[in-house]
Amino acid sequence: MKVTWVLPGGEEVVADVKEGVNMMEAAVANNVAGIQGECGGSLSCATCHVHVDGDWLEKTGEKGDFEEAMLDMADGEVTGASRLSCQITASNELDGIRLMVPEAF
Ligand code: FES
Repeated sequence: MKVTWVLPGGEEVVADVKEGVNMMEAAVANNVAGIQGECGGSLSCATCHVHVDGDWLEKTGEKGDFEEAMLDMADGEVTGASRLSCQITASNELDGIRLMVPEAF
């Protein structure tokens, strides 16, 4: 499946991501600036914060309560489109998804 990350300056990183890989791991593997994934995807760092573009948000499913709480610690503006990308798993349904990397404070 194809994923596009849009950096704060508008630059895009496009990659093919295997099903089952989470979007934080995929971002780190593709050197997407601004996505660190410090905790390795265990929902304890919030350094994998992204804004999910438009209609894709619904397809990523509901945020868990713990994810919601961790988002308070995230860098960058937290909006209704905010997700921690380690909680989004690549699947064919998400083929073409666009993830915006928020500008860090
Ligand atoms: S990688 Fe740490 S919360 Fe997502």
